[in-house]
Amino acid sequence: MRHWTQLGEAPIPDTDQRLFLYQGKDDFFIKISGGHELMSTRKHGSEDALGSLPCKRLKQPETARVLIGGLGMGFTLAAVLGEVGSKAEVTVAELIPEVVDWNRGPLGECSGKPLNDPRTRVHLGDVAKLLRQSRNCFDVIALDVDNGPEGLTKNTNDWLYSTAGIIAAQEALSSIGILAYWSAGPDQAFHDRLRRCGFMVEETVVYAHGKKGARHIIWLASIDG
Ligand SMILES: C[S@@+](CC[C@H](N)C(=O)[O-])C[C@H]1O[C@@H](n2cnc3c(N)ncnc32)[C@H](O)[C@@H]1O
Repeated sequence: MRHWTQLGEAPIPDTDQRLFLYQGKDDFFIKISGGHELMSTRKHGSEDALGSLPCKRLKQPETARVLIGGLGMGFTLAAVLGEVGSKAEVTVAELIPEVVDWNRGPLGECSGKPLNDPRTRVHLGDVAKLLRQSRNCFDVIALDVDNGPEGLTKNTNDWLYSTAGIIAAQEALSSIGILAYWSAGPDQAFHDRLRRCGFMVEETVVYAHGKKGARHIIWLASIDG
């Protein structure tokens, strides 16, 4: 039988749902009201890949400007920081203040405390709003705010995967920028939508843990291929 301790609880803004942080014997996990596990420190291969895959393609990693949507447990942020240079700036937008607190507290060690890195900027708020306000400024935008195009956390996140949301992200990208999206599973309609917005699209299957566990999808979308 699994034993765990609840360490934290937070409302999800504009919904009637809550997030819960638990500590198990050797791990931490975050669940959403109703019991669905959103994340675990045991399985983060696909979150790492969301950060590393697009950043490995950067032409100028030294000075890259990166936006990450959704801090979660900090693995994507840590992976991005591992690929970019000392003059890079990495903004992580997180909707739920408690998630930032959990990463500054008990979760921090699990991802190597990426919030302490001087290249990290935390933007508390909805990444969708930040995208709408940004023009031509990020070399990579990596989005993992939910379960993918079929969201779980917040209905308004669906906008990020709509044509309007993709175009807003496109406008926020620099001319050589790359958009990266995480999804729990394949979604041909979303893939086609990215292509209709003028992107070259690469779909990669990634494992949750090494070469095992659930298989997830990362789409990389770029204008110049
Ligand atoms: C699945 S987790 C992200 C996992 C992350 N990739 C990692 O490496 O741990 C999703 C995160 O996105 C946040 N989130 C959900 N909707 C958001 C939004 N609209 N804007 C910013 N953050 C959001 C959630 O609070 C949660 O922390």
